[in-house]
Amino acid sequence: MRFQDKCVVVTGAGSGIGRRTAMEFAAEGGRVVVGDLDLATAGRCVEEIAAAGGSARAVAVDVTDPASVAALLDEAEAAFGGLDVLVASAGIREIVPALELSLEEWNKVLDVDVTGVFLCNQAFARRLVAAERPGSIVNLASVAGLQAAPNRVAYTAAKHAVVGLTKALALDLGAHGIRVNAVGPGVIRSPMTERYFQDSAFADSIRALHALERWGEPEEIAKAILFLASDEASFCTGTTMVVDGGMTAGKRM
Ligand SMILES: NC(=O)c1ccc[n+]([C@@H]2O[C@H](COP(=O)([O-])OP(=O)(O)OC[C@H]3O[C@@H](n4cnc5c(N)ncnc54)[C@H](O)[C@@H]3O)[C@@H](O)[C@H]2O)c1
Repeated sequence: MRFQDKCVVVTGAGSGIGRRTAMEFAAEGGRVVVGDLDLATAGRCVEEIAAAGGSARAVAVDVTDPASVAALLDEAEAAFGGLDVLVASAGIREIVPALELSLEEWNKVLDVDVTGVFLCNQAFARRLVAAERPGSIVNLASVAGLQAAPNRVAYTAAKHAVVGLTKALALDLGAHGIRVNAVGPGVIRSPMTERYFQDSAFADSIRALHALERWGEPEEIAKAILFLASDEASFCTGTTMVVDGGMTAGKRM
């Protein structure tokens, strides 16, 4: 039980990778705050955790709003005591050719995927530093933080920014005993990507992107997140761990 009685806050935990991550932390003894814009999905995740014997609480949060992020952390501290781990999984993406992307769509993706991650990291770290408490942060980057994805100029820019802000925060927070890392998933089957799998030819093309000739599952990302958040990764900070089935290892001929 690597996270026995640790207070773990996961954003975007109503769905996909965040949801699975919240469940894995709870299975390892963590007391998990399941934060999401969609309170109903967060509530369903908490029900599943409780049914498996874990401890969790659902909280509505908009990661782009500093007051909402503060309320999330207030509730986490009130429910479960001092903060230990933050996972910033809330994210959105566009699929729009660059020439057609509106300023509104660009701003929306950057707001959630960059500003939202920064606001959560900063607010979480401020509380740890004030309490002189060590801790660990894991941000959701993407293979799109290392290479471009077509028709996703905002998402690609945002995920490159997550890789960069993870490094910068690691430098600023290391002296306070706070580690900041990211994971870079390949294509993971989740509600965000579910439409890819409805067309079998497209699903085959997704498989072919990966050296392992398959897409990934949320659990496989959750395992990497738990490793980075745990004491097993005590000398890891500022890194993005790529978990992509070989998608970025090289071009497949
Ligand atoms: N699925 C993939 O293939 C994949 C690959 C690489 C990276 N990622 C990243 O992993 C993270 C999770 O992706 P997923 O596949 O689980 O997506 P998902 O769509 O299944 O879940 C994302 C969750 O974030 C929540 N959310 C959106 N905006 C929010 C906001 N403003 N405040 C709070 N919550 C908000 C949504 O309600 C949703 O529950 C994202 O950051 C995504 O970019 C996903």
